[in-house]
Amino acid sequence: MTTSESLAVHRDAPHDSAARHVAGSAPYIDDLPELPGTLHLALGLAERAHAKVLAMDLEAVRAAPGVVLVLTGADMPGLDISPVHAHDEPILADGLVEFHGHPLFVVAAETRDAARRAARLGKVTYEDLPAATDIASARAGAKLVTTPMTLTRGDAAAGIAAAAHVIEGRVTVGGQEHFYLESQIALAIPGEGDDIRVHSSTQHPSEVQHMVAHALGVPLHCVTIEMRRMGGGFGGKETSGNIFACLAAIVAKRCRRPAKFRPDRDDDMIVTGKRHDFEVDYRVGFGDDGVITGIDGTFAARCGYSADLSGPITDRALFHADNAYYYPAARLASLPLKTNTVSNVAFRGFGGPQGVVLAERVMDEIAYHLGLDPLEVRKRNLYGSDTRNVTPYHQTVEDNVAPRIIAELEASSDYAARKAKIREFNAKSPVIKRGIALTPVKFGISFTATWYNQAGALVHVYTDGSIMLNHGGTEMGQGLHVKIAQVVASEFGLDVGAVRITATDTAKVPNTSATAASSGSDLNGMAAQSAARQIRKRLTAFAAERWQVAEDTVKFVAGQVEIGGESIPFAELCRLAYGARVQLSASGFYKTPKIHWDRASGKGRPFYYFAYGAACSEVAIDTLTGEYRVLRVDILHDVGTSLNPAIDIGQIEGGFVQGMGWLTTEELWWDGKGRLRTHAPSTYKIPACGDRPMVFNVALLDDNANAEETIFRSKAVGEPPFMLGFSVFHAISDAIASLADYRLCPHLDAPATPERVLTTIEAVRARAK
Ligand code: MTE
Ligand code: MOS
Repeated sequence: MTTSESLAVHRDAPHDSAARHVAGSAPYIDDLPELPGTLHLALGLAERAHAKVLAMDLEAVRAAPGVVLVLTGADMPGLDISPVHAHDEPILADGLVEFHGHPLFVVAAETRDAARRAARLGKVTYEDLPAATDIASARAGAKLVTTPMTLTRGDAAAGIAAAAHVIEGRVTVGGQEHFYLESQIALAIPGEGDDIRVHSSTQHPSEVQHMVAHALGVPLHCVTIEMRRMGGGFGGKETSGNIFACLAAIVAKRCRRPAKFRPDRDDDMIVTGKRHDFEVDYRVGFGDDGVITGIDGTFAARCGYSADLSGPITDRALFHADNAYYYPAARLASLPLKTNTVSNVAFRGFGGPQGVVLAERVMDEIAYHLGLDPLEVRKRNLYGSDTRNVTPYHQTVEDNVAPRIIAELEASSDYAARKAKIREFNAKSPVIKRGIALTPVKFGISFTATWYNQAGALVHVYTDGSIMLNHGGTEMGQGLHVKIAQVVASEFGLDVGAVRITATDTAKVPNTSATAASSGSDLNGMAAQSAARQIRKRLTAFAAERWQVAEDTVKFVAGQVEIGGESIPFAELCRLAYGARVQLSASGFYKTPKIHWDRASGKGRPFYYFAYGAACSEVAIDTLTGEYRVLRVDILHDVGTSLNPAIDIGQIEGGFVQGMGWLTTEELWWDGKGRLRTHAPSTYKIPACGDRPMVFNVALLDDNANAEETIFRSKAVGEPPFMLGFSVFHAISDAIASLADYRLCPHLDAPATPERVLTTIEAVRARAK
């Protein structure tokens, strides 16, 4: 083994494409050289939320300049691309429109401009059907897209009935557009016979391979999916890329020409699903000390017209309805509602953040009701160490560092003194009010679909000592590739620069899982380490044999191999080993141990471990306009023993800002006809540079190895920090509470747009009278 100081892990290393990202020389799919004869695709979209298609006149579309092929649902009967095989997602709507923007036909033309112009010329006759586009109307119809889940532990009703205090209420939380910088895109290139290669901007190349093979009616071995890098995915490229890849492949096969599908940004925003918005109803019982005795929560979600991943997403909302808190008795139920809107999909946190909404609102309710500091109530309800440590899904929390994180952050952020100062400030400031909140996060790591928790990798060592690495994970900006390269370099005592990661490719590593659930480095890191260790073992055996020394004297350190008393360059050993016919290539495999989950009984250990964190945010609101600024944010986050602290801090900052955007300025708005009116950056406001907290301190929890045997004892980091954004939401709430002298809990819903802040201010003022 190498010594820890010489390892390529546990140190800052820049993203492998950082320089190219900045220089504009990192190719994305749209940058690939276009082959002669490449066709371009565009969609014709439905203009009703729910309707029968009586007639579709596409003559003008077909006659438009440059048009080569026009296809409708009737041209591909039975072709369904539901990722969960629910058979509710025909690739193109065939006779039945289920949302405003539902793709009805696809146009292939010589240029992208010609395809887009032609796609507008379709004439469709509809017969309108009753449409339920929001949660309220869907509740009345009570149609679900998938089977709901209920988690029960203890007797929630009895726990509430026996409590000294009971509060009930509702909190609503909006959806979120992914707003990846690179929109969806696919480029299909036909090969010999039935072969086809598809460049797809996808987090899940294996699933795209399945979908394309199904669409073309060919075996999986005919279809190769390649993914070098995405310009962001955030869950929006877990399933949403399937339609673009399949249609490009179908056109490529029919025309025997390459076909490229890059939807326009507005079409991308209309046609692809978003984060689910939720209505959460709660009833909570608690004692005079603010400690919860029983809780009941119902999570109604707008799922859109099809199941997609709504089942596991609404499940994960329930798994995180406790956030970091212990519920002695709980009943938590999901309501995955079918609506005549685009089918909602994965988004960073995968329903978890919507679950946390309940826990954090309830903490505020209790605090204002009892006149306690919200942080005090949060601390009293945290999971404990030996008792008070079982979740509503009956998994024991064994690695709880939330109390430690909160204590350290409370001190480092100077919470108590600042809180007192804010109260003084607010007493003197009639218009501008300040608020502060410190909120924790506990997030379960693993796919709840247990079979997904596997990964493969392929490592080649060449005779010059350079290494090529391939694994099943995809790079979307999160720095997965550099982390895995660090892992492999560490095994050979090399610098990270010695390892090159190439495009994710279904022909190199097969049967992979989506890069999702934050598990990319946990899973692929272990698979790559296993492959590297096989090669190192062979090299070690070869060296020991040739130099006639014991195997344990062979060490890989700093680019050299120490063999007995001698030291030779790693490249030299590779050259010699090749000459002696030693295999220098290996594939690795990993599956997560210990996990199991039984959905029917609501019991098991769905998560291998938990990742924790906390954030303290201070805001100032203008009570005349509802506008606000984030003045200061302090974060302390748990990544176990970090593989790469610089990358992890980047993920924490990015996740926090994205979570804050979801809870504050990002608002999706559908009109009465079910038409999405916020389908461009002009109407949909993501955080910009100017919205960054004025003071932003991010630290990693130190001396904190993962108790489980993860890759170099690190922890996943992709999603958990998203929920640190709650501190901003609750700080805004705290500022509003000052208007009634902290006696009333502001019933602020998310997103807390200035408009909603203002109406909540008015409501609190009215209640205080
Ligand atoms: N970071 C960047 N820059 N871009 C992204 O698209 N996606 C997030 C997170 N961080 C994302 C990101 C989501 S939703 C997940 S699940 C994880 O990265 C996936 O990557 P990982 O498993 O390697 O952490
Ligand atoms: Mo992330 S929502 O699991 O892609």
